Parts: sequence; C-alpha cells; structure tokens
Amino acid sequence: MKNKAVERVIRVFQERGNGRYGDECVSQLEHAIQAALLAEESGASQPLVAAALLHDIGHIIGECDLPESDDEDLNDFHEEKAYQWLLVNFGIEVADPVRLHVLAKRFLCTVEPEYAHSLSPTSLKSFHDQGGLMSNDELESFRAEPYCQEALVLRRWDDLAKDEQKEIPNIEYFVPLLTVCSEAATA
Ligand SMILES: [Fe+2]
Repeated sequence: MKNKAVERVIRVFQERGNGRYGDECVSQLEHAIQAALLAEESGASQPLVAAALLHDIGHIIGECDLPESDDEDLNDFHEEKAYQWLLVNFGIEVADPVRLHVLAKRFLCTVEPEYAHSLSPTSLKSFHDQGGLMSNDELESFRAEPYCQEALVLRRWDDLAKDEQKEIPNIEYFVPLLTVCSEAATA
C-alpha cells in the first residue's frame, strides 16, 4: 500500500477500531464498515462511500479516549477534528458530508420529529450534547450547505450501521476505493 493517507486509515482502524462509542452495540470498525456497505449497496458515489467509512474517524484518529458510557459528555466535535485531514487527503466530496453529519442529525430531528424516535439511546444522548434542536437560522444555514443532501443520506446509513449480526468484510476491502478517492483529491 503506497498511499500514506490510506495506510493511516487502515492502521487507525486496526489499532483503535475495536473500541465502542458510549453504549453502542457495535465497535467503531464494525460501524464504519457497515455504513460504507450501506452506501455501496445504495449505489452511492465512491467519495460518498468513503465518507460513510470515514464519518466517525475523528473519534479515533486523535489521542482522546472513547467515552465508556452514555453518562459522559458525547459531544467531542469528532466531525470537526478529522475535517482538515480528510479535506487535504480525500477532498471536499468526502470531507464535507463528514463535517455535516452531526448537523444532519440535528436537522432531521428538527424537521422530522419521528426521526428522533429511531435513534439509538447513545445517538439520542449525543444529539442533546451536540446542541439539540436547530433554530430557524441553523436550519437555513444547513440547507445552504452544498453537501447537505449527501450529509442527510450519510446520516441515515450512520443510524442503520449498528447491526450486531451483520457479516462484514475486512477493512482492507476498501483500500482500492480509498486509494482512488485520495489520488483524485491529491492529483
Ligand atoms: Fe456514526
């Protein structure tokens, strides 16, 4: 594997991907791979599949420990921590849906009250820690984001990617796709 950014993604998932976030039932690695598979099965573009795989990498790419239960503050700004690194190494089509996926949850909870009922307890807790319902100004700002639609579909895969029974491939399955996205962004 020659691409340094792709190597780092694989290493981070191998070294830290077994941790669980709060009280979620799947590991970070399982969650990421399931989200990417849902994107792939939906016929999403390669950058959006990569965004689905990398959407929570901010939880594990830095030095911080994962919260061990929902009792902790679940707003760790993970979507912003990874943003600059994703932007430089994978481009805006990957980085922006990732940056917006937390706002997308707040948007959906605000415009679709029943959406909040579909969230896992941990996701509902982090929704409150991340700011809760959006104001009208926040809704307008979100709608004006060029990648808001991509962030909304990513959010749906994120919510579904918590299946304890699902069979998943190894993280290396995504190396070719990540390499294509990285090379396109850094060419
Ligand atoms: Fe997630």
